[in-house]
Amino acid sequence: MIYQDTINKIMDTARIEEVVGDFVSLKKRGTSLIGNCPFHNEKTPSFHVSVTKGIYKCFGCGKGGDAVHFIMDHEKYSYPEALKYLAQKYNIEVEEKEQSPQDVEANNARESLYVVSQYAANYFASELWTGEQGRAIGLSYFKERGFREDIIRKFELGYSPDQWDALILSAKAAGHKEEYLERTGLSVHNDKGRVYDRFRGRVMFPIHNFTGRVIGFGGRTLKTDKNVPKYVNSPESDIYHKSNVLYGLFQAKKAIREVDNCYLVEGYADVLSVHQAGVENVVASSGTSLTVEQIRLIGRFSQNVTILYDGDAAGIKASLRGLDMILEEGLNVKVVNFPDGHDPDSYMHKVGAGAFKLYIENNRKDFILYKADILLKEAGTDPIKRAGIIRDIVESIAKIPDDIKASVFIRECSRLLQVEERMLLTELNKMKSARSKKAFSQQNPPKQQFSSPPGMPDGPPENLFDDNFSPDLPELETTVDNDQLQEHEIVRLLLAFGHELVSWDNIDNMYIGSFIMQNLADVTFEDEVCKLIIQNYKEEIENGHLPVANQFIKNENRVIADLAITLSTSPYALSENWYNKHQIYVRDETVNLKATILGGLFHLKKRKVDRILLGLLQEIKTENDPVNQEILMQRYAYIKNVEREISKFLGSVILK
Ligand code: UTP
Ligand code: MN
Repeated sequence: MIYQDTINKIMDTARIEEVVGDFVSLKKRGTSLIGNCPFHNEKTPSFHVSVTKGIYKCFGCGKGGDAVHFIMDHEKYSYPEALKYLAQKYNIEVEEKEQSPQDVEANNARESLYVVSQYAANYFASELWTGEQGRAIGLSYFKERGFREDIIRKFELGYSPDQWDALILSAKAAGHKEEYLERTGLSVHNDKGRVYDRFRGRVMFPIHNFTGRVIGFGGRTLKTDKNVPKYVNSPESDIYHKSNVLYGLFQAKKAIREVDNCYLVEGYADVLSVHQAGVENVVASSGTSLTVEQIRLIGRFSQNVTILYDGDAAGIKASLRGLDMILEEGLNVKVVNFPDGHDPDSYMHKVGAGAFKLYIENNRKDFILYKADILLKEAGTDPIKRAGIIRDIVESIAKIPDDIKASVFIRECSRLLQVEERMLLTELNKMKSARSKKAFSQQNPPKQQFSSPPGMPDGPPENLFDDNFSPDLPELETTVDNDQLQEHEIVRLLLAFGHELVSWDNIDNMYIGSFIMQNLADVTFEDEVCKLIIQNYKEEIENGHLPVANQFIKNENRVIADLAITLSTSPYALSENWYNKHQIYVRDETVNLKATILGGLFHLKKRKVDRILLGLLQEIKTENDPVNQEILMQRYAYIKNVEREISKFLGSVILK
């Protein structure tokens, strides 16, 4: 358990824009920062960060929270893990209460995989720098290839001794369990149950996730024997999912954001060489073909990808189709081709850093034009082949989500292919409509979770985030058979105005929070989360403490925090056709705070009373005993009276 003092310190220090900014490229818009949501796939940003409130909220998928929630959600960390991550980021010392051995065991299984991986990275590095074999074979290999010491250290390169169990012995002596070595794939066992190191006699490339934790390894052999695989890689594990990882992203992400471009290469060696030359915005897909997850990972830092290809023509052609996927994700793709079968690493060594940088500056081509170029050269003058190319190219263009961008390519390709623009456009539209029909029948994605109250103009929470923000809002539900909307409104009012002091009629200098709670003594909440919040609020007041909104917004209980955030980021949650019915639309509800608060209270009460009346009517209908019926009818008359009073009150107060 982390001490509350430490938690408070972390919460106070963590800046939402910095925490989120490590993962999402944020741009200033109006009073808030916006970016592409890292939790769902989107082309136009609907992910908002409010610096003053210390929270984020995506109006696309509905996710929201504070800095801790962000890390929990994004890194899939537990609450204490997320706190520790932030503590580390801000150099805050974490003070913890003693944990039971069982707690430690349960919390730390995953953590142990990270820890043992980091241990192995340190071990391999120390073997490289100080081991006899490591220095003689590993370090001299890296130096021969021209890698500088600072780069070798920055990427935590290492060496695994040519022994069956060097790592296992060392790790066990340091107190690591065999189980975790096996679960990370650092050790393997054969049929006879014999356990040995996966990596033996190889130079080691630790693979980091983009927060910098070691999650796996690639090990390159130094033998030239064709029967020995060049690279051995860590298998998938609880912490290593290949399709979600880009080699070098941790070391590159800052530069990617700054330069607003990401270079994509194939191998570990290419990353190191290019990075060493001062082009630090470089990552590798590491042998596997590029996945959508990897593209989205890049997309969090920049919308621009430049692919640095090894020069062989067959390879390029084979990969062209795969690149359409990047277009589909809305990223801008450029391509650089190296001459004479060079890869980035070998070309760098041939021409040096300066000429290398110049070369990639001067030789980058837009992917579509590059593709057209290659295909055209191949087709020569054959008209049938040329027609095929047109289809092929337009197919790629059709994948670009941005119409304006697409039309630019249509124009350029019309020139390149010597085909009329109009013809290409017709082809494009045909493909697009065929595809959207297919997409429409296949999917029906739930998009918005933010909803305007019925009777209110659809729109964003304008006073909170931004003036010109307009997400497409879903159809609103008009028939609601529970009191959730009214209950939400009460919670919203508590969060927004609980701390305001008011003096109305017969109350004098009272906090709105206390006033609302007093008036709700006889009301039972139905919505589970509202109930929790109200309960909490009540208990605090009974203990002489008036809760603040942040207590709920930053609540450890996610459902509470989620609702609190949603409610404190939506301007008017008032239900039904409230404003319509009374023909008022109070832009700034603080102007008429009394009406707002009483309106919320009595509206909820009216809902509750209406429900009681409805229930009574049912009972009266089904009751056969005339005496009982009489009693029920009396009760009905009484409550109906209450209802009339409330209605009258509502009318007079709101319309005054
Ligand atoms: P390369 O053969 O281009 O490797 O494979 P490289 O990193 O440039 O290595 P050098 O220059 O020969 O030292 C590209 C990537 O494909 C993966 C590795 O991630 C490698 O970096 N790969 C390659 C494997 O996983 N296994 C292999 O056997 C070969
Ligand atoms: Mn290479």
